[in-house]
Amino acid sequence: MKSSIAKLFKWVGIALGGLVSLVLLTLGVIYLITTSRMKQTYAVPSHPVAVSSDSSAIAYGKRLSQMRGCTDCHGENLAGKLILDAPVVAKIYTTNLTPGNGGIGGRYSDADWERSIRHAVGPDGKPLLFMPAQEFFYLSDTDLAALIAYLKTLPPVDHVPPKSSIGPLGRILYLTRQMPLVPAELTDHASEHPEAPTPGITVEYGRYLSTGCIGCHGQEFTGGPIPGAPPDWPPAADLTPSGNLKHWNESDFIRAMRTGIKPDGQPFSQQMPYQTLNAMTDDELKAVWLFLKSLTASMPSTGR
Ligand code: HEC
Ligand code: HEC
Repeated sequence: MKSSIAKLFKWVGIALGGLVSLVLLTLGVIYLITTSRMKQTYAVPSHPVAVSSDSSAIAYGKRLSQMRGCTDCHGENLAGKLILDAPVVAKIYTTNLTPGNGGIGGRYSDADWERSIRHAVGPDGKPLLFMPAQEFFYLSDTDLAALIAYLKTLPPVDHVPPKSSIGPLGRILYLTRQMPLVPAELTDHASEHPEAPTPGITVEYGRYLSTGCIGCHGQEFTGGPIPGAPPDWPPAADLTPSGNLKHWNESDFIRAMRTGIKPDGQPFSQQMPYQTLNAMTDDELKAVWLFLKSLTASMPSTGR
C-alpha cells in the first residue's frame, strides 16, 4: 500500500516536472522568437522630403502633431512618457522628441525623422516598438514636411525615458497578432508612399484624416476592444452608419468632437482623445463625417 502511494507521488512529480519544463520551454521559445523579431534590421529606401521653415508650415505641423496623435503618446510637450504600465504585458515609454537631455531632436536628420515617423524604423535600422507608423505611412510629403518643420522647433526638455520592457503576455499577444508591437512589420517599406488627396470636404480627404482613428476604432471602423490597451479601457465605438452614430447628424458630430459631450449628454470616456482631435478645423471634421457616412454599414445592428 505504502509503496503504491509512493509510486503515485513519484508519477505525479514526474508529470508536474514535465509540465513545468514544458511551460518554461514554451516561454523560452516565445522569448527567442519575439526578441529576434524586435531586433531585426530593416532597410528603408530613403525618401527625401523638402522641409521648409516658414511659419505657416510650422503652425500647421503643430496642429498635425495634435490631430495625428503624436501628443497623445509622446506627451503634450513631446518629451516622452509612460503610455502602458502593465508589466506582464509591457511597460512602454515613448521617446523624448525634443533636443533636450535624453531627447533625439538634436541629433535627428530629416531622413531620420522620415524613417521613424513613416516606417517605425530607427536610425540604426532597428524597429521602433509600438510607434504606429502603419498610420503615418500615408502622410503626404507636404504634411510630413510640416510636421518635421514643427518638431525641429521644439524647445529642449530634459527627460531621459527609461527603457521599455515587454512581458510574457505582451509577447504572446504580439505573436498571436493581438498587439501591434512591431509596426515596422506592418508596412511594405519598398512601396511608394501613396499620393494624398487634395484637402477639401470630400470622402477621400476624410478617409485620409481618419487613418488616425483606425488604431482604436479598427480597420473597418466597427470599434471593439482596442489592441494592446489595458483591460480597464472601454471598447472603441462603432463609427459605421449602423453603429453608435446612427442617430447623429453632422452638427452633433462636430459638437461632440469639440466638447467631448455626446448628443445624449454623456461625456466621452477619457480614452477617446477628443482634446487633441480638436485641433481639426470644422472643414476637416466635416470631411471625416462625410467619410464615416460613406462606410458600408456594419453587420446587423446589435442595438448598442
Ligand atoms: C500609440 C502611441 C504613439 C503615437 C500615436 C506616436 N508615437 Fe512615436 N513612438 C511611440 C513609442 C512607444 C516610441 C518608442 C519606440 C521605441 O523605443 O522602440 C516612439 C518613437 C518615436 C520616434 C523615434 C525616436 C527614436 O527613438 O529614435 C519618433 C521620431 C516618433 N516616435 C515620432 C512620432 C510622431 C511625429 C508622431 C505623430 C505623427 C508619433 N510619434 C506618434 C509611440 C507613439
Ligand atoms: C486612443 C484611442 C482612440 C482614438 C485614436 C480615437 N478614438 Fe474615438 N473612441 C475611443 C473610445 C475608447 C471610444 C468609446 C468610449 C466612449 O464612447 O466614450 C470612442 C468613441 C468615439 C465616438 C463616440 C461614439 C459613441 O457614441 O460612443 C466618436 C464619435 C469617436 N470616437 C470618433 C473618433 C474619430 C472620428 C477618431 C479619429 C479622428 C477617433 N474617434 C479616434 C477611442 C479612440
